[in-house]
Amino acid sequence: MKTDMELMRPFCSTQRRISLNQLIPVLILVIMTSSAASVWFTRYDRPPESFVLSERSSHFSSKSCAECHAEIVKSFAQTPHARTLMRATDKLVINEFAGKRFHRDESGVDFQYDILDNQLFMSTSAFSRKVPIDWIFGSGKHARTPLMTWIDSKGATSGLEHCVSAYPDGSLGTTLGMEELSESIGLVSLGQPRPPNEIANCFGCHCSHVEVTNDRIDFDKTQPGISCARCHWDTSKHLHDMGNDLTSTIERLSDLTPIESINRCGECHRRADELGGEIDPDDKLLPRFASVGLVQSKCFLQQEEIIHTNGQAARFDCTSCHNPHQPTRSDWQFHTAVCLNCHDATQKKAIDCKVAARTENCLTCHMPKVPAGKHIHFTDHWIRVQKLGQ
Ligand code: HEC
Ligand code: HEC
Ligand code: HEC
Ligand code: HEC
Ligand code: HEC
Ligand code: HEC
Ligand code: HEC
Repeated sequence: MKTDMELMRPFCSTQRRISLNQLIPVLILVIMTSSAASVWFTRYDRPPESFVLSERSSHFSSKSCAECHAEIVKSFAQTPHARTLMRATDKLVINEFAGKRFHRDESGVDFQYDILDNQLFMSTSAFSRKVPIDWIFGSGKHARTPLMTWIDSKGATSGLEHCVSAYPDGSLGTTLGMEELSESIGLVSLGQPRPPNEIANCFGCHCSHVEVTNDRIDFDKTQPGISCARCHWDTSKHLHDMGNDLTSTIERLSDLTPIESINRCGECHRRADELGGEIDPDDKLLPRFASVGLVQSKCFLQQEEIIHTNGQAARFDCTSCHNPHQPTRSDWQFHTAVCLNCHDATQKKAIDCKVAARTENCLTCHMPKVPAGKHIHFTDHWIRVQKLGQ
């Protein structure tokens, strides 16, 4: 019998095949039991094609923007967007794993990470050979998760999201969403196997450019990390125009309506209109999707009611608090100033808080941090009155 597993990329040069008979029963079991583990990425998924870009981003280097937008290029390079995907050999990430061990209590499995010939490998007694790690997802601001890939029997790129991630404090821990993975033997004890469309999606949201033909990713042509062209679409024409003293016609994202602008971010952070059905404020997954939560807020929905003292209508979207070219600001005073800019009854703007003074930190009660798993938290972007402390 031929199956996809048979053609998993050779995990080492001497032994090219994984023993299928060993794996299949375990795999089936895991597919049946691990729906909770895959929920983070599959529940709100759109068709794979929508993330995987070809024409829109084309080949691109932010160096071509630096000549005229030097400050932006420089500060953008420090953002989590720019660093959200790296080859495992990158100096910035390899030592997060190399030389370390981790024991998963949930499955009793030990993992060991080593460098051999400049390649990062994972080894464990739960699996018969060393597994090369090629990609590390995540900038490290929240987590870094290895992804192993191989070519399946149809020639498509399949993969596995590893159940161990590196966290900002330098420790290794279970990957968010895989807490319940308890298999102790075979491929499935290593993490969540993902079919080609999901693997392409991972790269689609974490890259500037992914080249996919018949479900196979051409990694030589893939540009890891999110760069300018991922948000500013018509860059080649802009380069041509600016190089020839023509008028700039590049789209100004600030000219989009607030919802259009948020949906651009929502291409990856998820869009409210693709969820379908009622959105439940108590949905524990919701804080992960800032662009879904924010647009439920009265602050967003009723923003046009607010006219600033200079006569300008208020505008509220992601860029009110996040400069897309700079790392996120974590000082609450900055964000609270955004609230107070609209919430000021004395200026006949939006109502004031009944509970807290204007000098207090609005975020703790109205945009609280919600823990997800043991190591990560998300900020609830659905600004509202919440029952806290339950
Ligand atoms: C040769 C100089 C030059 C290069 C190279 C260049 N730009 Fe520009 N860009 C400009 C100028 C000048 C403007 C302002 C045009 C205007 O206001 O009419 C502009 C405007 C923009 C705007 C719109 C700003 C706004 O809101 O008005 C964006 C977005 C932009 N550039 C992105 C890029 C990106 C991304 C790159 C790299 C692919 C790039 N630019 C490369 C000169 C350049
Ligand atoms: C191409 C997909 C994509 C698009 C488009 C996108 N993001 Fe992101 N964003 C990501 C990914 C992936 C991360 C995770 C970065 C990491 O690895 O830490 C992220 C992280 C962030 C963070 C967290 C940074 C931190 O310091 O923790 C913010 C804030 C953010 N994005 C805002 C935006 C805004 C605002 C827009 C629209 C202007 C936007 N994003 C568009 C994919 C995207
Ligand atoms: C729809 C777009 C999208 C897809 C598909 C996607 N991601 Fe992400 N990813 C994001 C965004 C947006 C963030 C930042 C916010 C967050 O953490 O959810 C992120 C964050 C991350 C992080 C940083 C840690 C964290 O939780 O913040 C890792 C690691 C990661 N993704 C790995 C993956 C892997 C592996 C896959 C494929 C199995 C994948 N992502 C698929 C959009 C996506
Ligand atoms: C995550 C999406 C995203 C990425 C990536 C991104 N931008 Fe932007 N950019 C925006 C948004 C949104 C605006 C509008 C900002 C606003 O309205 O305040 C903008 C505005 C601009 C502007 C005009 C306004 C200004 O701030 O001067 C320029 C120029 C620009 N971007 C260049 C770049 C360059 C160069 C890169 C790559 C180094 C880049 N952008 C990467 C989303 C992005
Ligand atoms: C663009 C203007 C604007 C911004 C910025 C803004 N709000 Fe609002 N907010 C509003 C408007 C308008 C309402 C509806 C007021 C009403 O019901 O009369 C509102 C309602 C609220 C409510 C009541 C929600 C409910 O469901 O009853 C809370 C709480 C709130 N805002 C807190 C905040 C906080 C905290 C911030 C900053 C993190 C903020 N707002 C930022 C305009 C804004
Ligand atoms: C009223 C201000 C405000 C607005 C508007 C806003 N954010 Fe945030 N965002 C924050 C704050 C505060 C944090 C937490 C920053 C910290 O402590 O590091 C945050 C953090 C994030 C993170 C990091 C993960 C997390 O949940 O902590 C992402 C991703 C993010 N925002 C995306 C977005 C997107 C996408 C939009 C537009 C839909 C948006 N934000 C609009 C204030 C805002
Ligand atoms: C200690 C927690 C806490 C802090 C801090 C806090 N709030 Fe509130 N806020 C509440 C609670 C609780 C309510 C609901 C009060 C009620 O309905 O009786 C509320 C209500 C509101 C409302 C709706 C008022 C109404 O009449 O319906 C707005 C607007 C608001 N807060 C804005 C803010 C802003 C802006 C800040 C920061 C300056 C802030 N809050 C700080 C807990 C807090």
